Amino acid sequence: QIVHLADYRPTDFILERVDLTFELDPTATRLEARLIFHRRDGADPKAPLVLDGDELTLAELRLDQNELPAAQFDVTPDSLVIRDLPEAAPFEVTVITIINPEANGQLMGLYRTNGVYCTQCEAEGFRRITYFPDRPDVLAPYTVTIIADKATNPVLLSNGNFLGGGNYDEGRHFAAWFDPFPKPSYLFALVAGDLGIVEDTFTTMSGREVALKIYVEHGKEPRAAYAMDALKRSMRWDEERFGREYDLDIFMIVAVSDFNMGAMENKGLNVFNDKYVLADPETATDQDYANIEAIIAHEYFHNWTGNRITCRDWFQLCLKEGLTVYRDHEFSADQRSRAVKRIAEVRHLKSEQFPEDAGPLAHPVRPTTYREINNFYTTTVYEKGSEVTRMIATILGRDRFKQGMDLYFERHDGDAATVEDFVACFAEVSGRDLTQFSRWYHQAGTPMVTASAEYDAASRSFVLTLEQNVPPTPGQSVKEPMHIPLSFALILDNGSIGEPSSITGGEVTDDVLHLTERHQTFTFSGIGARPVLSLNRGFSAPINLDFRQTPADLAHIARHDSDLFARWQALTDLALPNLLQAARDARDGKEITCDPAFLAALLEVAGDGNLEPAFRAQALALPSEADIARELGGNNDPDAIHAGRQAILAHLAREGAATFEALFASMRTEGAFTPDAASAGRRALRNSALSYLSYLDGGVARAADAFASADNMTDMTQALTVLAHRFPGEAATANALGAFLKRFDDNPLVLDKWFSIQATIPGVATLARVRALMEDPHFVATNPNRVRALIGTFAFANPTGFNRKDGEGYRFLARQILAIDPRNPQLAARILTSMRSWRSLEPTRAEHARTALGEISAAASLSTDVRDIVERMIQD
Ligand code: ARG
Ligand code: ZN
Repeated sequence: QIVHLADYRPTDFILERVDLTFELDPTATRLEARLIFHRRDGADPKAPLVLDGDELTLAELRLDQNELPAAQFDVTPDSLVIRDLPEAAPFEVTVITIINPEANGQLMGLYRTNGVYCTQCEAEGFRRITYFPDRPDVLAPYTVTIIADKATNPVLLSNGNFLGGGNYDEGRHFAAWFDPFPKPSYLFALVAGDLGIVEDTFTTMSGREVALKIYVEHGKEPRAAYAMDALKRSMRWDEERFGREYDLDIFMIVAVSDFNMGAMENKGLNVFNDKYVLADPETATDQDYANIEAIIAHEYFHNWTGNRITCRDWFQLCLKEGLTVYRDHEFSADQRSRAVKRIAEVRHLKSEQFPEDAGPLAHPVRPTTYREINNFYTTTVYEKGSEVTRMIATILGRDRFKQGMDLYFERHDGDAATVEDFVACFAEVSGRDLTQFSRWYHQAGTPMVTASAEYDAASRSFVLTLEQNVPPTPGQSVKEPMHIPLSFALILDNGSIGEPSSITGGEVTDDVLHLTERHQTFTFSGIGARPVLSLNRGFSAPINLDFRQTPADLAHIARHDSDLFARWQALTDLALPNLLQAARDARDGKEITCDPAFLAALLEVAGDGNLEPAFRAQALALPSEADIARELGGNNDPDAIHAGRQAILAHLAREGAATFEALFASMRTEGAFTPDAASAGRRALRNSALSYLSYLDGGVARAADAFASADNMTDMTQALTVLAHRFPGEAATANALGAFLKRFDDNPLVLDKWFSIQATIPGVATLARVRALMEDPHFVATNPNRVRALIGTFAFANPTGFNRKDGEGYRFLARQILAIDPRNPQLAARILTSMRSWRSLEPTRAEHARTALGEISAAASLSTDVRDIVERMIQD
């Protein structure tokens, strides 16, 4: 059954209050839910109350304390319909359900992870706990009482403020919580178990003291220190940047080891995948620290953008997710290097969202239909949604954007809002018509902007001709022109920025050209000499730009632009033609060459001590094989792409040997490990040098040395990656993998790195290795992190290993999807999206991929999650 945005209508009943009493038991938890409703003004006085369920068993049902006669209701595992309810007066429905947390392998609703009870209710998990109007526009205050065995569950948590607790009967105890902020059911949470705790406090800007508590497995408390620090920084930042203060007496985070996603923003009680909480220098990489900081911030920021203001329906998901990603991006940019953060964001957007937008799963940031909402927690909704918010800030300017946000918070606090409500706030404070801009929410597909420029010395003018096209996507064959904000600079010969006396042809604000027509020509007057145009600086718009600039012009931007992002972009644009040609030459069996000007420009940046190391490392990380495949656009041969790219890396290594030697020696971080951005940048640059040096004589020994002498997880995994990926057959590699396993054998999160490094070894032999690793006792097939680390990483991040020409990779994946699906459909569906670009493969592989997808779709029983993905993927 397909859900349509156009069918939205408010409920007939208003939910006034929710009172839940849980008696926890691993296999038979009893929940008594008391719900007070009244009929909405103007609603049909005969309308029945329809509650959602999912695999539920009803034990008892009462209306105003009296057992309800069977004739007055209909119940199935997924719905409860009650008739003949009062026309106007409030009434109380009491629903008693018995649920089995132990048997809940979907990890939606109430489940158990390592002996801990925990919940995940977004999007539609609450209906697996009790019959309920399980939709985000039904908001109510909740009182929750939890009763459980005291010895095994000393910790009993739910949303809001703690009301009280005490002993109960038979070794049991209870705790009661009250959340005064009306919330939808997807923000409900309950956690119970035996957990360790890390405590701190935060004083808000108005002087209220908030208790901060992070719960982790016993013994892991020291590894939560960084998360606590990130939390306090997030709380301060949201006050300073957006004026948002925390609103309860307590804020809790619980880390659990079985979790389908990153984390969840339940009011006052965030539940996290432990991967995004736990870190210490011995076991976490710089990337782990950065992820923890970003996700702690993201979930905390949801308290305002998501919880205080929630979504009217799930079509509005980007209202909270796109905006909150934008907020966490801004936070990380302020905490670290803004330019380096922006480069990482754009790399991620291009490698994850652009392929989604160009393939069979493309959908608008604000979709209008869905079959399974879980499949819309996508990089389009999250990351493109964030880019759309960023463009509003770019178009309005910082101050107006802030005013628009203030208005949004003021006007919609307590609401279940829509994207239109959000955009209206910015239209109002700026006086701008944002109708055309809103197409970013409604039209799927990455716009292609084609640019060409000409300088006319006689008229001292520079003319820029732009054309935009949004490609057709599933269900949307015709597209209207978008409002595309293009940040620009005219860079003069001496590297300074040219100031035209006038610009005509369209709106220009600050350094932003507003492209609004399908074809548009901007003329810059009063330019004394031919400038070099730097366009879409800072990636002001999430577009593909086709602007055939000469290598000389790109090198000029790479040297002189004051926007570091634009310098990185220019280096990438210099690299790409070389990598594309190398892929073609590898396919045709030709010798692979490389433009010396590109090598020189890159090595100049690598060795430039005035540039921050993290930036130089980003420059040295050439476009990935997936990036190259995307640029090639079709008929792709992953083996040729890999071989071509490897040849270019080897060229660079030989050409830059001296630079890499010097960097490897000088970028060593001294003293005790600190996860700050500057140290992380030095490690990144040094490890990049190590990776290039592996192409030279003595590469194995050097990598083995680096592995043996590493004193932190970043250096250790980087060296291990070089060994495994470059020298998979060497004894040194087997030894290092063995030593790593032995040392971290009791730490599943570290072993995930061990699985992933091996899953991404290029070449046909890796599939056998992945199969063997699935038999390793450390591989736990029910744990989402393990499955993602081994099978997910193999499918998503190993182009040559997965896309074997004989199709074995796809057959393997199909079998895994069918094995995972019955237990955990969300996990299966997510991993299956790794095949979203199958149509751009060369015909032999594409045919194998189609066959494997056909095998999945022909399976006798499939979850709606997998059914939805596989059918969209193969439809013509
Ligand atoms: N709201 C959570 C977050 O972004 C993610 C929830 C994902 N839910 C899902 N069904 N996939 O922080
Ligand atoms: Zn989120």
